[in-house]
Amino acid sequence: MERGQIYLIGFMGAGKSTVAPHLAEELGLEWVDTDDLIEKKTDLTVPEIFEYYGEERFRELERETIREVSEGDPKVVAVGGGAPMDDENWERMKSTGVVVYLEVSPKEVIERVGSDGSRPLLADLNLEEKEEKVRRLLKKRHPKYNRADHALLCNGAGTGAVAEEIASKLNGKYEDS
Ligand code: S3P
Repeated sequence: MERGQIYLIGFMGAGKSTVAPHLAEELGLEWVDTDDLIEKKTDLTVPEIFEYYGEERFRELERETIREVSEGDPKVVAVGGGAPMDDENWERMKSTGVVVYLEVSPKEVIERVGSDGSRPLLADLNLEEKEEKVRRLLKKRHPKYNRADHALLCNGAGTGAVAEEIASKLNGKYEDS
């Protein structure tokens, strides 16, 4: 495969946006986060977009953003947790780069994002409801995520170690020479 984008996918809290800059540095590439790009484009936060315009509008913006990113120079792309469930996004990612799944258990997700208010899909739920929703969504999404080109189990793993493991899986294809 030619050099293309490196898409980091996985559930909320999997560490995509913290691993992305480390991996990018290792590979000598730029990195972007699709949620950040959407926020810049709209001048609204992700929770505000959900609140004012609804999830469907957010998904349209996400599709548009992934389309734009896929057409640019190779870079590391931290992808919002729901994006891979959309067929257009999935086909585009698979055809324009390599897709890497950062896998974490529901327990780890809850520990990492349990009290974080920036995820509208988990907002306004008590702990028990949150746990139930994380398990349900993860069960639905995991089979799709798991069709990535590479999958890494990231429970308890440090950011640097995850970035290094991805770099080694990519076999030096992206490293500066
Ligand atoms: C979502 C994940 C979020 C963000 C939005 C919806 C999801 O991104 O795109 O809140 O459907 O899982 P992160 O995975 O970066 O938290």
